[in-house]
Amino acid sequence: MKDLLIKNLASLATNRGKGPRGGQSMGEIHEIIHPWVLVRDGKIHRIGGEELEKEALDAQILDGEGKTLLPGFVDPHTHLVFGGTREEEFSMRLRGESYMAIMEKGGGIKYTVQKTREKSFEELLASGKKTLQSMAEMGITTVEAKSGYGLDKETELKQLRVAKALQEAGPLEVVSTFMGAHDIPLEYKGRDRAFLDYLVEEVLPVVKEENLAEFGDIFTEKNVFTVEDSRAYLLKMREAGLKLKIHADEINDLGGASLAAELSLTSADHLLKANDEGLRKMKESGVIPVLLPLTAFSLKEDFARAREMIDMGLPVAMGTDYNPGSCYSFSVPLMIALGALYMGMSPEEALTAVTLNSAAALDRADRIGTIEEGKDADLVLIDAPSYRFLTYHFGMNLVTTTIKQGKIIYN
Ligand code: NIG
Ligand code: FE
Repeated sequence: MKDLLIKNLASLATNRGKGPRGGQSMGEIHEIIHPWVLVRDGKIHRIGGEELEKEALDAQILDGEGKTLLPGFVDPHTHLVFGGTREEEFSMRLRGESYMAIMEKGGGIKYTVQKTREKSFEELLASGKKTLQSMAEMGITTVEAKSGYGLDKETELKQLRVAKALQEAGPLEVVSTFMGAHDIPLEYKGRDRAFLDYLVEEVLPVVKEENLAEFGDIFTEKNVFTVEDSRAYLLKMREAGLKLKIHADEINDLGGASLAAELSLTSADHLLKANDEGLRKMKESGVIPVLLPLTAFSLKEDFARAREMIDMGLPVAMGTDYNPGSCYSFSVPLMIALGALYMGMSPEEALTAVTLNSAAALDRADRIGTIEEGKDADLVLIDAPSYRFLTYHFGMNLVTTTIKQGKIIYN
């Protein structure tokens, strides 16, 4: 692989470090004016000035054209692989029906489960590839993908095998999460525990055998899974060697944040209704809050309390939650705009939330999420003189070039 030399940049902006950044340090963006960057073997080899021209060997040149270089965006929460869409339900919600009321009537996740069961591996793979290409155009270089629209052995494994095939095909890095515990399928109506046992006894062993998931996740919510059942289930996932996440306190405050802290999960996601005590405990045990403002926006719910969380010292990350129901969007520009204008994040905090802290939510902060020598060359160019335009020129996709491990994947 040839060296890649990036020159003519207006600026470079990044947080620094190999771990999540809490409190005020989330706002510590390191900015370099007119830097040159040399990429070698897919890694950031050197950050410097024009002297890098001599160090580069037979390099491919990328003209920065007065733009700004940022770390590639990391999306730590999506439901990437699914069949069908739910535009009718969206219209119902616009007319005032609630997400939970639609779900209780047998719509919602159950509808997508039926559609996903009907799709073949190839069909799901083709639509996943298309989505990943559009994500690269938004500057996303790493994306998490959950199962959970199968709720039976065959379809859960199909979704996870698709995610694995997407990871192997590249160019994006796809991080797989087993989320069989996303809802209770009709076959197990009223038998929640039996369903969780089925997932642990029948599906999990194959997930492990074929190395299909790095994380496990559960939807802890009223009318879905209780805190007690979630605790027992998450512990079994951990015993099997999975790292853990939770959909916590999204619609109702069930104490999901406290459970995440008690079990020291990698992340707790949503947290729209999370209480102060739960958040304090999360801070103590190092759980990363993954906030999903596009979902709150789509559900017309109040946004998560990002400002307060950051002031408490929590290293807030942001993700899209792309899925066909609660959030049929992976618009990074809209997500950043909501983070800044409705959740009180500074431009610096918003940038850290979609790079270093989201990398930490995927347990990858030692390798991706910042622009530092030795880290993977996952980079985006935005057509703006500084990173401040991410929030200022809101709602616009400023990304013109995306680079994954030194390879230009969108330009
Ligand atoms: O993260 N909360 C649960 N799961 C998804 C929604 C899934 C769906 O509606 O299809 C979420 O919001
Ligand atoms: Fe989700």
